[in-house]
Amino acid sequence: AEACNIGIFGGGTVGGGIVEIIESKREKFEQMTGKSLHVKKICVRDLNKPRDFTVPEGCTVTTDYDDILNDDSLDIIVEVMGGTTKAKDVVSAALQKGRNVVTANKALIAAFMPEIEKLLTDINASRDENVEFRYEAAVCGGIPIIRSLQSDFVGDEISMISGIINGCTNFMLTAMDAEGKSYDEALDEASKLGYAEEDPTLDVGGFDARSKLKILMRLAYGIDVDEEEISCRGITELSKLDFQYAKMMGGSIKLIGVAKALSPGKVAAFVSPAYVTSGDSLYAVSGATNAVEVISKNLQATTLIGQGAGRYPTANSCINDIVALAKGDKTPLPFNPPAKDVQFVNNYESNF
Ligand code: NAP
Ligand code: HSE
Repeated sequence: AEACNIGIFGGGTVGGGIVEIIESKREKFEQMTGKSLHVKKICVRDLNKPRDFTVPEGCTVTTDYDDILNDDSLDIIVEVMGGTTKAKDVVSAALQKGRNVVTANKALIAAFMPEIEKLLTDINASRDENVEFRYEAAVCGGIPIIRSLQSDFVGDEISMISGIINGCTNFMLTAMDAEGKSYDEALDEASKLGYAEEDPTLDVGGFDARSKLKILMRLAYGIDVDEEEISCRGITELSKLDFQYAKMMGGSIKLIGVAKALSPGKVAAFVSPAYVTSGDSLYAVSGATNAVEVISKNLQATTLIGQGAGRYPTANSCINDIVALAKGDKTPLPFNPPAKDVQFVNNYESNF
């Protein structure tokens, strides 16, 4: 079969999972796509670091970005190294070279969504075949929320999108509540399990959830919000005592993200810890599980629950994007069309 060659920036938690799945499912993917998928190059920071996955035969591990960017035999570039500086450079360069890109990097997308969108528009204006940009893994790990918002709500009107959208902190809150672990013990364990960002401040400060909420708001409401305008409180102030009080009242504490249409054309949003009663659907969402509820006119309430962080759930979403690209599936507007008549209101109280 024709080869579909892949270059990956990042050989860590997610990158390793992608390599493993491609290696173990090559025959199936060939049947599905008509192409033989090969990871040809992986770019990392440190060549001497031991890898917890097997580097495929014939695959080069490099620290030179150009080894991937200048390799014209690569069909798909996957960015799973994180950050917003080098990641932006390699994603932009790959798109400019006409490569299809898959990324799991919500921080990058949230910071540079208009630039990425413009770049794609400019590049694709002069091409017969569109360059594709896919990012299913960037929001809620293994949950197919991006695809769902790109395809399943096109005739609907979303009034609220909310839920648990960070796996690391939900894992920590569960460990602190159910197992009585300290904040530091819980964070340490989450990091060891590959749930935390390289800079865990992004998780515990609520900023990772805020980046995801920004992306969801663009897909759900067509608005591009400056993420710093979204009210954001993380879990850093929570202690065992807060859980004891919550338990005393029969509930628990969850870090939630909410974006809600307050009135037609006005959307408010926040990230904050919230008290949930034992009857609330979020109460039983434990560990690195995420849950996103979409309230909409046609479908009413739709909830997606699943693993929101970790190697295989996240790699699974990247693989879905890679296989879709190998099949030739198209997503002409990766961020959905922008809305003209919707406004973000960050002063929530004054709108009541
Ligand atoms: P990770 O385990 O820290 O792996 C990052 C990899 O990228 C490492 O192999 C690292 O190289 C490489 N890298 C980092 N900076 C680099 C640079 N400047 N130049 C070259 N290589 C660089 O991170 P991860 O958990 O796989 O996450 C990767 C991305 O996926 C992030 O954007 C994250 O937000 C996103 N994501 C992660 C999860 C998750 O559950 N882990 C879920 C959804 C999305 P070395 O190994 O040599 O240090
Ligand atoms: N650190 C992120 C989380 C990874 O815990 O949700 C998945 O996006």
